[in-house]
Amino acid sequence: MTQQNNLDHYQQVQTEMVSRALAQWRPFVTDQVAVITGGARGIGKVLAQGLLEAGAKVVCADVTWKDADEFRDRLDSSGRGLGLEMDVTSDESVRAAYDAVLDRFGRVDTLINNAGLVSETLFAPKGKVPTLETTDQDWQRMFGVNVFGTVRVIQTFVKAMLDQGNGSIVNVVSSGVLMESVGGGYFATRPWTTEMPYQASKASLTTLTFYLAEELKRTGIAVNAFMPGHTRASWFDDTARAISSEGRIYALRPMAPQHVLPLVLFLAAQASSQSGEPATGRLYHVPDWNYDHGYGGLQSWGDYDLPEDIEAGYRELEAAMPDYWRSGLARARFDAERVAYAAGMDKIKSAQEGAR
Ligand SMILES: NC(=O)c1ccc[n+]([C@@H]2O[C@H](COP(=O)([O-])OP(=O)(O)OC[C@H]3O[C@@H](n4cnc5c(N)ncnc54)[C@H](O)[C@@H]3O)[C@@H](O)[C@H]2O)c1
Repeated sequence: MTQQNNLDHYQQVQTEMVSRALAQWRPFVTDQVAVITGGARGIGKVLAQGLLEAGAKVVCADVTWKDADEFRDRLDSSGRGLGLEMDVTSDESVRAAYDAVLDRFGRVDTLINNAGLVSETLFAPKGKVPTLETTDQDWQRMFGVNVFGTVRVIQTFVKAMLDQGNGSIVNVVSSGVLMESVGGGYFATRPWTTEMPYQASKASLTTLTFYLAEELKRTGIAVNAFMPGHTRASWFDDTARAISSEGRIYALRPMAPQHVLPLVLFLAAQASSQSGEPATGRLYHVPDWNYDHGYGGLQSWGDYDLPEDIEAGYRELEAAMPDYWRSGLARARFDAERVAYAAGMDKIKSAQEGAR
């Protein structure tokens, strides 16, 4: 398929899947109040748009709205949206945002703890600093936002949920926290990505999710976490370009952020008593959840709408990679993807050397 054909085909597939998810979960989500931290851009913004479309009242709370005024205006003028400035590292700021949400909407049904630093924003743009070269300050900044900030937001916003007797808390973590075992000791699924202190912060938030879910299990409040997978967020293009300036391609093609919507609508629905016994204490990997629920695999959610310079790299890589897909998997295992990526890059390099 040509790039334009790919783009048309997959955009149509993605639009259909999002519409199907909206139809499925709208009855549970309409009129609920959803708060999304870090909702001015990136994944949070797309979640906000989806929840608005599902009929929810949506609050996006972000430390900065720089270059996001247009989205904030759209939120405000929707009649069901509110854009707030909120720094998750400040008690005062979080309390003020909570008061503003209660003043405007009177309740909180879903809280999506999406605000965060990733390696690519802490160490912009490439995001790769070996652990031994990180400083105390790097760890403090990362944990200040991703861990202490999230705990502060939960402790503040949960009050409304406890009063109501229902709610859904959703923590956004990362697949870098995963471990597995093939019969012996556990090992990390992809420790080669060089992402400290980011992954340590997400591991902390993952554990918090399980323990908090247990503590809140009789209150009607669900607590879950999800791992988006490699997704084109606000920082992505800068990182991809910085890495390509060193002659490498930034990992595999990212997914479009819309791929997170079906699962997030399902998780928001866990706040509704209509959904019966809510799912809680779960950690979901978005590509696997999508595949298992009829919402496509990794290829279906690829972002085929990249700027031409970045698209050219992924096209070249995909043409050079071995066909490593197998049935029954939303995506290949991380080790398999790594080997396929390395094989593709080797082939590209050999072709470049041969042409010289
Ligand atoms: N994009 C990916 O591939 C990916 C993969 C795994 C997990 N995640 C997670 O997804 C979430 C969203 O990240 P993204 O990739 O969309 O990045 P992003 O940088 O586009 O969005 C993060 C948002 O958080 C906000 N934020 C940062 N510090 C804040 C603070 N102190 N108070 C309030 N808001 C603050 C930023 O302003 C930004 O709008 C993060 O939790 C990230 O760890 C992303």
